[in-house]
Amino acid sequence: MIKIKAVCIIGSPRNNGSTALVVDKIIKGMEEAGVVVRRYVLGYLNINYCEGCNYCYSMRKCKQHDDMNAIFEDLLESDVVLVASPSYWGDVTGQLKVFFDRSTPYCDTGEGGNIVPEGKYGISVAIRAGQRKNETNHIIDTIEHYFGHLNIKPIERFTMENIHDLGNFEGREDELKQAYAIGFNIKKAIERNMIKGKII
Ligand SMILES: Cc1cc2nc3c(=O)[nH]c(=O)nc-3n(C[C@H](O)[C@H](O)[C@H](O)COP(=O)(O)O)c2cc1C
Repeated sequence: MIKIKAVCIIGSPRNNGSTALVVDKIIKGMEEAGVVVRRYVLGYLNINYCEGCNYCYSMRKCKQHDDMNAIFEDLLESDVVLVASPSYWGDVTGQLKVFFDRSTPYCDTGEGGNIVPEGKYGISVAIRAGQRKNETNHIIDTIEHYFGHLNIKPIERFTMENIHDLGNFEGREDELKQAYAIGFNIKKAIERNMIKGKII
């Protein structure tokens, strides 16, 4: 029996917005299934821009010290990495983009290649006001591109369109139940990716 840990990165500036509401349903499911969850809202953290100094490509760490350090401590010991974003101009938020840039010390394009331990599984979440599916898919692709360079295997996706504000969740309980179920069933989703107790 594996003790599962999850780190959840909410890419919104808001702690009580639509993205947080959806992620909190997934978290509720995970916690009720015994998963240990750490939750971060990027808008509330001190994360500086990447300075483009390239130090991390060879040193495999960042020269800057801010809230990225704590997030990555958690991420490196988590089995599940959830990354969520509302659409901002058809893409992830600026906050999430900065987070991606600052993850470069752990990116497999650094000297020596991948340094992220095997056995991490990714959940991507995209929320938006508009309804064209291709814009939502673009956000999911961006998050899964990030997962790909950090040795995180995508296993679940959750998206909602037509969500401008909290009032738009009215009548959409079924979708929120699906979000909860993703969290509650995450152990099973991981087990489907395991061979003889070894996470692959
Ligand atoms: C600066 C800004 C840009 C946005 N751009 C888009 C967009 O391009 N497409 C879209 O569907 N929604 C867009 N939205 C709407 C948000 O994605 C939507 O309101 C979402 O529910 C907000 O999530 P939050 O409450 O977690 O911040 C934008 C919102 C803001 C504030």
